Amino acid sequence: MNTKFKNDINEGLSKLSKTLPSKYFYDKIGDALFVKIMNLPEYYLTKAEFDIFKNQTKNIISSLGIKPDTYFELIELGAGDGTKTKELLKVLLSENFKFEYLPIDISINALNNLEANLNNELPDLKVTKKQGDYFSVLDSLKTSKHPKVVLFLGSNIGNMEDERAKNFTLSLSKSLNTNDRILLGVDLIKSKDIVLPAYNDKTGVTKTFNLNLLNRINKELDANFSIEDFSHQPEYIEKEGIARSYIVSNKDQDVFIGALNKTFHFKKAEKIHTEISRKYNDTVLNSILENSQLKIVTKLLDSKAYFADYIIIKT
Ligand code: AVJ
Repeated sequence: MNTKFKNDINEGLSKLSKTLPSKYFYDKIGDALFVKIMNLPEYYLTKAEFDIFKNQTKNIISSLGIKPDTYFELIELGAGDGTKTKELLKVLLSENFKFEYLPIDISINALNNLEANLNNELPDLKVTKKQGDYFSVLDSLKTSKHPKVVLFLGSNIGNMEDERAKNFTLSLSKSLNTNDRILLGVDLIKSKDIVLPAYNDKTGVTKTFNLNLLNRINKELDANFSIEDFSHQPEYIEKEGIARSYIVSNKDQDVFIGALNKTFHFKKAEKIHTEISRKYNDTVLNSILENSQLKIVTKLLDSKAYFADYIIIKT
């Protein structure tokens, strides 16, 4: 049994304000639900970033400061299925840039699928997959003196509280050399009527995605959550630019977690915080980068100005 998972669940549910870490959404079922989310009409994020990669590829390349004759490493943190990245890879190949693509992911399965797909669709591309957590892999790449471009797309940084995002970008900064660049994809702060439906879709896929965490605890930790007795509740505070998702208990109830041999009580209307999806603007990003050697060079927006790909340089 996964001890880290067990301990994290115990810790989160033992707090006065209960929490469950969003990283545990992504089991096999969660992965599939997230693919469904990306295709929802309300979930504009993926489409907006794809629009940037598809229609502003030349701008991306020129702002990355790379030249066709200088070999560089294109590193992607948490590469996923590579749909957006492929738009960039295609143009780099057709313009004869000399580079290697290094997708990093914790899941060897995701990497194998991506590699097979790229070998098939872009046979001229040099792919070197790296399995592991981001920083151990980045550290191992430090010895290479080639210029680096790091992609961190999809507003994945949005799942981090600001303090964690600061530590993350600081570590990233330390693993890069002067003039290396980062392409950071973030969802932008905008009005509630656009953001909230993205986390509260009509067909209830996001609800299933959020509540799947309880199913996972039932399966992996021998618990007896009855899923119907909990609801999905997303909130968005526009002036902070932060969306938060909660699981709410519909009634007073006890849940037993076998692996912990422990009963947890949930009061009627009690909230369990499961996810933060932070939205950005220049001010927020500058404050996150404040203590690092990273500076914003420029940003590219989709046609609706919902999403931004920031180009950031290590000074
Ligand atoms: C993958 C972190 C960008 O926060 O928008 C989608 C995950 N959660 N719907 C996000 C998610 C609910 C997503 N990120």
